[in-house]
Amino acid sequence: MKTENTVWHQQHVAKEQRAMLKNQQPCLLWYTGLSGSGKSTVANAVDALLFSLGCHSYLLDGDNVRHGLNGDLGFNDQDRIENIRRISEVSKLFIDAGLIVSTAFISPFSQDRASARAKLAPGEFIEVYIDTPISICEQRDPKGLYKKARAGEIKDFTGIDSTYDVPEKPEIHVKTADLSVAQCAEQIVNYLAEQGFITFNKNQE
Ligand code: ADX
Repeated sequence: MKTENTVWHQQHVAKEQRAMLKNQQPCLLWYTGLSGSGKSTVANAVDALLFSLGCHSYLLDGDNVRHGLNGDLGFNDQDRIENIRRISEVSKLFIDAGLIVSTAFISPFSQDRASARAKLAPGEFIEVYIDTPISICEQRDPKGLYKKARAGEIKDFTGIDSTYDVPEKPEIHVKTADLSVAQCAEQIVNYLAEQGFITFNKNQE
């Protein structure tokens, strides 16, 4: 627990210096959407595209992080809130390191996404809504979890018996039903270029 004896230590190398060395503006692409909506798939495609463009990025993925750092957390509301809190703190550190960070978590509660946004400098938090209708997610059911949830074998399943707050004003709204994975990734990378987070010449693509 933080006490009055815990004092912030100012580091010599600033975020801006690290960013300049990497020739990019650090930011957080915060993917949100239902299970099976394609968050991890799109985030991976974006990460690969950024890498090929010479950007310094890192992807934190829900299922993977729940194997390690957040392996002690389940899916009740309290645990989901703590899951997102830890991820937003880790993301903040990675941003301080000058990276373009992506997080792919359902992050169902708008209040938690707002708290994550509030931890960062203005403009650094980019909400990416991976908008896939639940009927399509359920049809895909890549991990067979919707089937189990419908059968009552998993409780608190997002979109079935646990809430998902649809983002009201995401910076990037990706409608996956109409696009290929590559088109989704292009939409997101183009946004980063338009907003000046990354620079590249078109023939680098
Ligand atoms: S979050 O709600 O806390 O943001 P997170 O993205 O970390 O969720 O994990 C979601 C993944 O955990 C899903 O893609 C799915 O594979 C798995 N999962 C297991 N149980 C549940 C559940 N009850 N609700 C949603 N996802 C679940």
